[in-house]
Amino acid sequence: MKVLLNPFLISNYVSKEYFCDREDELRKLLRNAENNTNTTLISPRRLGKTGLIFRFFELLQEKKNFASVYVDIYSSRNLADFISLFSDAILQKFTEKTSIGKRFIKFLKGFRPVFTYDNISGVPQVQFNYHSDYDKENTLQKLMQFIDNQSVQVIIAIDEFQQIAEYPEKNIEALLRTQIQQLKNVQFIFSGSRSHTLMEIFTNAKRPFYASTQFLILKSIDREKYRAFIRSKFEIGKRSIDDDALEFILHYTNGYTYYTQFVCNRVYVNKKITLDVVKHECAAILSEQESIFLQYRKLLTVKQWDLLVALAKEEKLSRLYSKKFSLQYKIGSSSTIKRLVDALIEKEMILEESTDSEAVYRVYDVFLMRWLQKTYY
Ligand SMILES: Nc1ncnc2c1ncn2[C@@H]1O[C@H](COP(=O)(O)OP(=O)(O)OP(=O)(O)O)[C@@H](O)[C@H]1O
Ligand SMILES: [Mg+2]
Repeated sequence: MKVLLNPFLISNYVSKEYFCDREDELRKLLRNAENNTNTTLISPRRLGKTGLIFRFFELLQEKKNFASVYVDIYSSRNLADFISLFSDAILQKFTEKTSIGKRFIKFLKGFRPVFTYDNISGVPQVQFNYHSDYDKENTLQKLMQFIDNQSVQVIIAIDEFQQIAEYPEKNIEALLRTQIQQLKNVQFIFSGSRSHTLMEIFTNAKRPFYASTQFLILKSIDREKYRAFIRSKFEIGKRSIDDDALEFILHYTNGYTYYTQFVCNRVYVNKKITLDVVKHECAAILSEQESIFLQYRKLLTVKQWDLLVALAKEEKLSRLYSKKFSLQYKIGSSSTIKRLVDALIEKEMILEESTDSEAVYRVYDVFLMRWLQKTYY
């Protein structure tokens, strides 16, 4: 086990010691893997999808008959980028030292690609040359088949999957779906945060991926379990944290994974964590991020900004289009508000969460919400 100076991670996954709960989700992912079922994993940004994927892969390592590949397609702009990232991920997973890796390199050389090495990390990267669209599709198909033909069951997580909706290629969904369907020993986890886009891809009966996966909608970490996790990390680090200080953190950050981790990470330098210490640190975080928040303001219209401020004051709201809301904040008619809200959702400034009965809206970035509350009281 890798021992960290600070047990509250705010970037990459390290190991299960630093990961709180998600036992139900892990069970579902494992069940899907064992049942040959693909999964669509959705949650808002920074709630813990990527962490969960890595935690799940760690769990799979304990089971000898599975291998896992992680592909982040956030930076991809088209099918060619997708294929490059896909093969880079396989290369990274099955290095030249493994027998699959050796076979993979040999297989790749058949395409006469250009190998480059990342300047900083030294990680190999593959660039293919294509003569036609058919060439691309064929390359992807061969890559998929290569993976399928290995002696292990392979789970491939494609993170930021919504990105495919931005590709210029019109047939990308049909292409991926057809190729994926032919695989026998490979399952996929399609993960992303743009819930509208992903829901369209996977639940619209007219689209290729319709009803082809099980949904896993990630929610906030169970409050009780998160509290116990945080407390134990402070205890192990020989720190004391007062009850009201811990409650303040969970309340201030809404128990939203990234923000909770962030505040805990920051207060960890102290041996004795009181409410005052926490409040002081939260204020410091907001002032550090102020220039980013002011930048947001520049990128929005005055009306959009006003609406964001109003929503921050309300903290969360289910009836944004009500008379009461428009009268109280003088933003305009309900149709004006609807237009503003749609634009802000598109910019990921507002988060829309659907419950069983209604939609609930919040300022997406919790620190921004706290800053707006503090600045525009
Ligand atoms: N269960 C957990 N326990 C502790 N820390 C976690 C947990 N899940 C995620 N984290 C941490 O919270 C932060 C955000 O998580 P992560 O990056 O997995 O979110 P995400 O949903 O993939 O976000 P994005 O949509 O922006 O990619 C990371 O620093 C991660 O290490
Ligand atoms: Mg992620």
